Amino acid sequence: MPSTLVRGGRVVTAESEYDADVLAVDGRIAQIGTDLDHIEADVVVEADGQWVLPGGVDPHTHMDMPVGDTSTCDDYTSGTIAAVHGGTTSIVDFCIQQHGQAPLDALATWKRKLAAAAPVCDVGFHLAVTDLSQPAWLADLARLPEHGVTSLKLFMAYKGTLGVDDGTIVRTMRIAAANGSLVLVHAENGDAIAVLVADALAAGHVEPVWHGRTRPPITEAEATARAISLAELTGCRLYVVHVSCAEALEPIVRAQAAGLPVHAETCVQYLLLDETALEKPGFEGAKAVFTPPPRAREQQEYLWRALQTRALEVVSTDHCPFRYADQKALGRADFTKIPNGAPGIEHRLVLLHEFGVRTGRLSRARWVELCCTAPARHFGLAPRKGTIAIGSDADLVVFDPERVQTISASTHHSRVDYSLYEGTTVRGAPSAVLVRGSVVVQDGELTAEPPRGVFLHRG
Ligand code: URP
Ligand code: ZN
Ligand code: ZN
Repeated sequence: MPSTLVRGGRVVTAESEYDADVLAVDGRIAQIGTDLDHIEADVVVEADGQWVLPGGVDPHTHMDMPVGDTSTCDDYTSGTIAAVHGGTTSIVDFCIQQHGQAPLDALATWKRKLAAAAPVCDVGFHLAVTDLSQPAWLADLARLPEHGVTSLKLFMAYKGTLGVDDGTIVRTMRIAAANGSLVLVHAENGDAIAVLVADALAAGHVEPVWHGRTRPPITEAEATARAISLAELTGCRLYVVHVSCAEALEPIVRAQAAGLPVHAETCVQYLLLDETALEKPGFEGAKAVFTPPPRAREQQEYLWRALQTRALEVVSTDHCPFRYADQKALGRADFTKIPNGAPGIEHRLVLLHEFGVRTGRLSRARWVELCCTAPARHFGLAPRKGTIAIGSDADLVVFDPERVQTISASTHHSRVDYSLYEGTTVRGAPSAVLVRGSVVVQDGELTAEPPRGVFLHRG
């Protein structure tokens, strides 16, 4: 049975930190101890002076996702190559039900996309419900856990495309309450935003900055509160994705204080970017057209504080890459035609380390919890993923706290042609990344024969 020894590092988990060697046998962690030097492993990874973290789990990505006449420019090959370079070894991506398509057919479509690619890390799916016009499709939703899909996504924004009405939300939530699935919501009031967008266009406002101006925080706050009410009505567990502002945090904190099973994440871009990213000259602002939009700078401190107080439990990326040159360009004459989304999968761990751990906002343990352990727990992957424990998958990141890296589209591994963090220098980066015991990245290079990622059948 193939074995790998990660030797001489300091293990950092969400619970504790200690010096130890970690032995992987046949893809799983077999031993953790200070005296494993005598073991003759097939592969030895030196981790002296470095930290050994569980592989990152990014529960919010959009690979190979059709949007209008285009698609996100990373597939499960390029997107997972980018992921592992940054220490993320599992993703949970979105399978989107097309209008008129049965949910189980949608899942089959997405599984085919995954099978046609060569993922280098493991991939699970949430199912995004967009159409419940056929009664039989409710039964499909109820059966998704048998197929390894235990979370359902509802878009309250994107009126006319992905967006759903409250009736669809309630019917989906009832099924989730009955079978224990988690309901994810993109919480923005799509109807209200459609009116604000129509007003802006009628007044001749077509620049990217209007993406933000037509989606003010109150539209996110209202939808968040409504989603919480509907979850309470139906008795389901709720997870609010990409929370961007204090106004949306408020109902979440109130619900949590009342003991409701309401959970929430934010994304790196809301912690580090602000609305001025949309105001850049020319068409540059299009790079920051993601939804919800980047907010006023003062919002960032509320989000950091919520990570500290645990109102926010996960940091994801919402990696949704569209090339600037030809995909974002579709909206040069009209901001509503700019595909919504931005890349970021490769730099979640390093950016949160730089701006969270190194600034003293987050402990190392909390950093690991936010990027690895909590997403694994929320999405039915624990204890297989997200921690370093005997029997867990040997997804490991050897993180060198002194390794310096300058983020750039010219060196990142996504197919996208820009980075939101271009020119940002960070101290601390992975020196080696293992997926189920196999080294997949060593010193910034993908290994010659990286392991193949598998579909994550989630519990
Ligand atoms: O702008 C974004 N976030 N695009 C991806 C789809 C979504 O809303 O999560
Ligand atoms: Zn969203
Ligand atoms: Zn998303």
